[in-house]
Amino acid sequence: MSKILDVCCGSKMFWFDKENPHVTFMDIRECEDTLCDGRKLSIHPDIIGDFRDIPFDDNSFDLFVFDPPHLIRAGENSWLVKKYGRLDETWTKDLAKGFDECMRVLKPNGTLIFKWNEEQIKLKDVLSCFYQKPLFGNKRSKTHWLVFIKEVI
Ligand SMILES: C[S@@+](CC[C@H](N)C(=O)[O-])C[C@H]1O[C@@H](n2cnc3c(N)ncnc32)[C@H](O)[C@@H]1O
Repeated sequence: MSKILDVCCGSKMFWFDKENPHVTFMDIRECEDTLCDGRKLSIHPDIIGDFRDIPFDDNSFDLFVFDPPHLIRAGENSWLVKKYGRLDETWTKDLAKGFDECMRVLKPNGTLIFKWNEEQIKLKDVLSCFYQKPLFGNKRSKTHWLVFIKEVI
């Protein structure tokens, strides 16, 4: 069985199987809400946790999915913040810590998939927070899916 950790699962929108048994779903919050257009928002992770301090042992997952909030400016009660969360002023440090934590918990040679939307913060500014470059990913669109590996030297 593969061990996969989705550290910012939110409402699991991008999962085809939201109950996939290989996956542990984590988020910093649990909530049930209604968005302004009447759509339901359900966030029910398997575990409540902070990507800056992931509550798992070193080298324990094969695959990581890291899709942190991408907005820094948005109203507290806006549907965007309800759905995607919001970064703090300390976002550069927070994302750097998140990346370090994902790499700590990932098994050697494991894979990290990082998702980023450039609505407010450029991808190059986010990548400058990480100590490693992605292997590859889509470079042209506004939403990026990037692949990293945990290199063992
Ligand atoms: C962009 S959304 C993820 C959307 C998700 N991938 C989906 O498919 O629905 C970002 C999520 O990160 C969560 N989050 C924010 N800060 C966090 C933290 N420090 N640790 C873990 N999750 C966090 C938010 O609650 C939010 O649900």
